[in-house]
Amino acid sequence: MSDGTTSDSREFPAAALTGSLRDYRAPQGKNLLDRVEGFYQWQNLRREHELWPYAKSTESAPRTHCAAKNDDGSLIEGVNFASQDYLSLSSHPKVKEAAVEAIREYGVHSAGSAALLGNTHYSLKLQDALSEFVNGREIVLYPTGWSAGFAAIQGVVRPGDHVVLDVLAHSCLQEGARAATHNIHFHGHLNCEGLRRRLQRIRAQDNENGILVVTESLFSMHSDTPDIAALRALCDEFDAMLLVDCAHDFGCIGEDGLGHLGLQNMVDQADIIIGSFSKSFASNGGFIAVKSRGVAEYLKYFSATQTFSNALSPAQAATVLAAVEIIRSDEGRVRRARLMDNILYMRSEMAKVGLEALGDPSPIVPVRVGAEGLARIASRNLVSLGAIANLVEYPAVPQGAARYRVQVMADHSREDVDKLVMLMQKSLRMAEETYRPYRENEIHTAAPAMRGKPAASAA
Ligand SMILES: Cc1ncc(COP(=O)(O)O)c(C=O)c1O
Repeated sequence: MSDGTTSDSREFPAAALTGSLRDYRAPQGKNLLDRVEGFYQWQNLRREHELWPYAKSTESAPRTHCAAKNDDGSLIEGVNFASQDYLSLSSHPKVKEAAVEAIREYGVHSAGSAALLGNTHYSLKLQDALSEFVNGREIVLYPTGWSAGFAAIQGVVRPGDHVVLDVLAHSCLQEGARAATHNIHFHGHLNCEGLRRRLQRIRAQDNENGILVVTESLFSMHSDTPDIAALRALCDEFDAMLLVDCAHDFGCIGEDGLGHLGLQNMVDQADIIIGSFSKSFASNGGFIAVKSRGVAEYLKYFSATQTFSNALSPAQAATVLAAVEIIRSDEGRVRRARLMDNILYMRSEMAKVGLEALGDPSPIVPVRVGAEGLARIASRNLVSLGAIANLVEYPAVPQGAARYRVQVMADHSREDVDKLVMLMQKSLRMAEETYRPYRENEIHTAAPAMRGKPAASAA
C-alpha cells in the first residue's frame, strides 16, 4: 500500500478509473462462463492499482478502530467508519456472553428450517421480545434481512397482483417483486404524487387484484425518509397494502428505538414491516412483522426463504435477544443519544470543511464525490492515510454519483470523527490533483445513456 502522498496521475491507466459494473451486467454469448471473464480483467486492473476498495476483510473486531486486509491481501489499519454496528453492540460483553452461553448449550447450528426442527428456545423468545417491541405484532424470523425483504413480497404477492416501489427500494424488495409478478411499477424517490399517478393508472385498469406499495423508513444510500402517513393515505384511497422496510433505523433511531415508524407514530399503520438485525442488533438475521397470526402462519409455509432456508443459529438468536433487551433499556437510550450526537457532530464538521453530507441525520452519512475515477483515487488515499469508509458506485447509486457511505457507531469518539473528516478532506484534495488530467477524458467519454438510475439500492 502506498503512503497515499503520490499525485502522479500517470500511474493509473484510464481504464482503471473508468468503466462500471454496469458494463458487465448483461454479457453476450453462448458460453455462460467464458462471457463473464471480462469483468475479472477490469476488476484486476483496478486491484493492481489499489483502486478496488471492495471485499476487505477485518483482522480484528469491527470496532471504531480496526485492522483489515484489502482484497489483494495488503494490510490496512485505521479509524473505522465502514462497519454496520450502529449501537456498537457487536462487542458488548452481555451480547457476547449471550452468544457464548447459547453455544455452550446448543452447539453452533440450528440444523434445520424453522418450518421443521430449526427453532430453539432462543428464537421463540426472540419472536416474543420483538413482538412486544412492535406493539404485539406477529413475528416471523428469517436467516437474513435480505431474505425477509424478499419473502415479504414473494410470500404474499401473486402473478395478477401489482407491486409499486420507490425507485430506490433495496435489492431484496426489487427481487422479491420480480419473483412474484410481472406487474412491477416504480415511482420517483419519495414522490407521493408519482405514487398517486401509478396507483390511479393501475386501478383504472385493474380493480380485481392486490397492490403492494413498498418503501423504506430510511433509505440506505441517501439517508432520507418518506412521509409514511401520506403513503398510508394513498394506500387507503386505492385499496393497496403498505410494506415498510426499517432495516437501517429500527433499534437505533428515536427515543424508543422504533425508527421513523415510531417518530412518525406509524408503527401500527404499516401492513407489513420488515427489518434486519445486521445494522443495530449485532447479528445476521431479519424479521417480518404483521398484524395477524393467519398472515404469519401463511408466510412460514409460502415464503421460500423461510420454508426452504435454515433457521437462525442458536447463537444468532441469543445475540439478537440480548441486543433487543439492551436496545429497550435505559442503556439503549443512552447509546442512541451518543450515536445521534456523533452523527450531528460529523455532519456539522463536514459542512465546515466543504464536504457535502447528503440526506438527513442518520447512522448513514453519504458524502457526495461524483465521478467514479475521482472517488476511486480518493478512496485509495483515504485508506492509506488511516481511515476506512466504504465507497459506493453503481449499481448501488447512479453512475456519476459515487459517494462515500460513512457509517457511524455509538462508540465513536469526537476525536474519531475529527480524524475521519480531516482525512476525508485531505484524501479528496489529493485526489482532485491526481484526477485533473482525466477530467476532460471523463466528460468526453461518458455516454449519457450510461448514466442514470441505480439498478437497486444495496447493503
Ligand atoms: C433497506 C435494506 N433492506 C434489507 C437489507 C438486507 O439486510 P441484511 O444485510 O441484514 O441481509 C438491507 C441491507 O443490507 C437494507 O439496506
